[in-house]
Amino acid sequence: MSNSGVKTDEKKQHFDDIYVAETPVPFKERILDDLEYVSDDFNRQTFDRLILPWAKEQASAGKQLNFLDLCACFGNTTMATLYGMDFQQIRENWRDEAACRQVNGSRRFPAHTTAIDISANAMAYGASAGLFDQTITADLNAPTEQQQNAVNEAMAQADIVISTAALVYLEPEAIQKLIDSFAQTEREGYMLVNFLNPFALDKADATKRVLLEQLEFVGSMASRHRKLSALEQENYPGEEWALLEIWVLKRPRR
Ligand SMILES: C[S@@+](CC[C@H](N)C(=O)[O-])C[C@H]1O[C@@H](n2cnc3c(N)ncnc32)[C@H](O)[C@@H]1O
Repeated sequence: MSNSGVKTDEKKQHFDDIYVAETPVPFKERILDDLEYVSDDFNRQTFDRLILPWAKEQASAGKQLNFLDLCACFGNTTMATLYGMDFQQIRENWRDEAACRQVNGSRRFPAHTTAIDISANAMAYGASAGLFDQTITADLNAPTEQQQNAVNEAMAQADIVISTAALVYLEPEAIQKLIDSFAQTEREGYMLVNFLNPFALDKADATKRVLLEQLEFVGSMASRHRKLSALEQENYPGEEWALLEIWVLKRPRR
């Protein structure tokens, strides 16, 4: 399958072949294991501090939330945030082709899940494992009109959007459209995003400005993301870890 829409900073390792594999096992072995990709523990920690209490309140009031994983890949961050799974539990669940077929966990609050990604294989995996109730396969940098409409609708309907290790791949115009669609809805809604360091810092700054133009800042934390690959350690001498800034934003009160 072609994944030619994936754009990545030239100093950052390309993992495109892993994202388009048929199962998450190569993602588990080459990213989670080999690079100690611990970031989901911190995505979950931030989600639990700043979004989960609200989500549970909504659940107590009988509401089902629309949960959207943007650039979801195989759904590791959905497993961390919606299912409350930690790094070790995700690795264990994805240890081989048989084990990964079914998610060893349950949702912590009632949700309808939508995933969006350029990788048709990742979307098909997440749907078959029961992680994603709805999927949209699209190159967000160059969607067809029909795909853009479906993406806009999903963003507008979402109560919670998570987009982790993701915005770095998207063009500023694509990010602007996504945020416009999310922000246009009047009801309360949260977005968890993260920014990678040391990659593409100017791009991350531009993305932060777009987010802050339309959304209210809620809170943030800094954490480890994963180990730099050998190529990345050559590009960033003296650095061992890629770091994360994790942000939570919300729709503005009107
Ligand atoms: C690093 S993975 C992120 C997975 C997960 N969200 C996480 O935090 O670990 C990046 C994902 O972005 C997707 N992606 C990259 N470029 C894209 C594009 N132009 N449109 C849609 N998805 C894209 C890739 O296919 C991949 O699944």
